[in-house]
Amino acid sequence: MKIKVINGPNLNMLGIREPDIYGKNTYKDLCEFIEDFCDEKEVDFEIFQSNFEGAIVTEIQECLGEFDAIVINPAAYTHTSVAILDALKAVALPTVEVHLSDIDEREAFRKFSFISLYAEKVIKGKGFEGYKEAIEYLVNKY
Ligand code: DQA
Repeated sequence: MKIKVINGPNLNMLGIREPDIYGKNTYKDLCEFIEDFCDEKEVDFEIFQSNFEGAIVTEIQECLGEFDAIVINPAAYTHTSVAILDALKAVALPTVEVHLSDIDEREAFRKFSFISLYAEKVIKGKGFEGYKEAIEYLVNKY
């Protein structure tokens, strides 16, 4: 099982950005957290982060034939990006959408997710643990 973890814009600012919402741990902490869990589960993985929509689309396309599943936190693009939705549909890999915060309990504009139109599971409001849950779900199912 080879999983690609994709993180969208501003997630590289974890630890600095709105710590009351996203916590004080940094993006490096998140990557180490994912790495430790994947090592424990013997899951092959790669993590990618970008602040650019097109770079995320390309990264998803390049998962084809290389990865078995995708874990994605598209960050703000969740609520705007038909391009990311289409890329996920194009590669048609099992995908879990993760959000650190509970997007249903925040501003109205965060309630709608284009990505949820494709993702087979959505995990929100569980902080870093959400990534663990997503990886575990994929490992157990595929
Ligand atoms: C987020 C929620 C999004 O609404 C927001 O734009 C983010 C992060 C989350 O992980 O909670 O940047 O995806």
